[in-house]
Amino acid sequence: MTTTTVEPAGGTTGRYMFDNATTEARNQLQYLGAILDFGTRRVLSQAGLATGWNVTDVGAGAGTLTTWICDQVAPSGRVTAVDLDPRHIPSGPNLTVCAGDIRNLIPPEASQDAIVVRLVLMHLPDREQVLASLVRALVPGGVIVVADWDCTWRDLLRRSPSQRASQLFERFQDTLLAFGESRGADMGWAKRAPEVMDGLGLVDVTSHIDSRSWRGGTGICLLHHSNSIQKEAELVAAGMSLDDLVELREALMDPELMVSAYLMHTTVGRRPAA
Ligand SMILES: C[S@@+](CC[C@H](N)C(=O)[O-])C[C@H]1O[C@@H](n2cnc3c(N)ncnc32)[C@H](O)[C@@H]1O
Repeated sequence: MTTTTVEPAGGTTGRYMFDNATTEARNQLQYLGAILDFGTRRVLSQAGLATGWNVTDVGAGAGTLTTWICDQVAPSGRVTAVDLDPRHIPSGPNLTVCAGDIRNLIPPEASQDAIVVRLVLMHLPDREQVLASLVRALVPGGVIVVADWDCTWRDLLRRSPSQRASQLFERFQDTLLAFGESRGADMGWAKRAPEVMDGLGLVDVTSHIDSRSWRGGTGICLLHHSNSIQKEAELVAAGMSLDDLVELREALMDPELMVSAYLMHTTVGRRPAA
């Protein structure tokens, strides 16, 4: 596939806060799929995803959603998965995997029936520019699904086994999210996506906003556990001790803990028909 490039705006080349090459990354990306695929699939189905569509999955991660999309558009539709490091994406007969930065791998103008970009734009300082380029890659009538967490909503603890566990959880969140921001992430961007998508001329722009609670040892608690391992060095550098992290991980596996996921904003828009 021929691709086009987005030139990053000056000073906005943030470095993605996680790294798919780490031992823990496969777990992290699989947990994301387990938590989020159900909701994203529903939105894509409602948007009319069907046999024969050409779809790009931006920042495909573990490829769990990608594989499902491949099944929905087969046999004639094709899927392109783009990722900085696509090592965790399984191959498929109607799938092309592209390794690299989406800024350099924008699909050709008016080539895609649908584009999915989940948990990627929040990490990119030049997210609005990238989004505008992705919109141009849609065919007239094509659909874009922009899904990001609103991590500014922090009323996450539904139940905690102890005050200490609550304190450690809050400290972990403060530290991890601050680290993400230092890498260019915007933890509240998801709330602005509808306005930006309206401004890009998309029609039928709608946000689906959801969360659910998970007990220790399941869902989002497993994701936090995994993130605490993947980002251990950064958490320690920011003042958490290794003992703190051991205690935090114990709490995250304790069924007495109940945590809400961050609010997931899945915003859908359609390029006007010609
Ligand atoms: C948080 S994960 C989300 C994975 C998947 N979209 C999901 O929601 O389950 C972000 C993924 O986007 C990839 N990524 C981050 N920045 C990217 C960029 N500039 N271009 C392409 N992929 C990127 C990462 O390598 C990672 O696999």
